[in-house]
Amino acid sequence: MTKHVHTELDSGVLIVRIDRVEKKNALTSEMYAVMADAIERAECEPAIKVVLFTGSEGIFTAGNDLADFLASPSNDEDRPVNRFIVKMATTDVPLMAAVDGIAVGIGTTMLLHFDQVFASENARFSLPFINLALVPEAGSSMQLIETCGYQKAAELLMLGEPFGAVEARDCGIVAKICSSKDLLEQAMEMARKLAAKPSQALRATKRLMRRPKEPLLQRVQAEGELFFQNLSSPAAREAMSAFMEKRPPDFSGMD
Ligand code: COA
Repeated sequence: MTKHVHTELDSGVLIVRIDRVEKKNALTSEMYAVMADAIERAECEPAIKVVLFTGSEGIFTAGNDLADFLASPSNDEDRPVNRFIVKMATTDVPLMAAVDGIAVGIGTTMLLHFDQVFASENARFSLPFINLALVPEAGSSMQLIETCGYQKAAELLMLGEPFGAVEARDCGIVAKICSSKDLLEQAMEMARKLAAKPSQALRATKRLMRRPKEPLLQRVQAEGELFFQNLSSPAAREAMSAFMEKRPPDFSGMD
């Protein structure tokens, strides 16, 4: 356990707050472990529909703790950072982030696994791996190309210069820019909307969208199978009955 990451459940949204201000929210093994556990918990607990990561005022995270890097440079698969990366990359629980201020290294690359990223006007992203004589991590050498195209990804990863919220939005890393003051509330507004959706269909939508590239007809077939499975689900019946009865649907208890 660590006092540097707090979790709180609000209206179906598990808020994961990184809070190690004195070290600019740099992430230690203990912090990664709590962050991985939070995603795992969301996968198992029906009351959790969305996980929303955030930081402190003006600091999302300064990335991996550099002292930790110096102390334990092993690439053991069980390391908490690896567990966190695998969880982010494979979970079907919708992931969101609200980013204010600095988002360095994994503070930026983690966002490539997220479904909706809100950033404040003060957000400052950077991928400084090259400047530390390191290479990209968390799948970013592939995902950044998919997100921004090769030329932009090469600029960001080979120069390692910081960039702001507008550039991040133009690149497709960020969905929406808000003022720092409104950031968390606006992100929560969207998270609550997601949390009110039929949970199984939402997760199945994410699984479809996150499948690796495949021939189109293979995807059409995969969608068709899930579509017909979902058609007979209690949530779909409720949605269609609600339409016929001219009332809002109620998906509670249908996990
Ligand atoms: N790991 C460990 N400690 C870190 C850290 C990191 N990634 N980032 C910041 N800190 C610590 C500093 O060592 C300092 O600690 P101290 O007060 O005990 O000396 C404290 O946080 C404040 O950092 P400081 O550099 O004074 O703040 P700043 O506002 O001037 O700059 C950053 C903020 C994020 C731009 C700068 O700290 C930085 O570049 N950090 C390294 C980021 C990095 O390379 N991350 C790894 C990417 S792979």
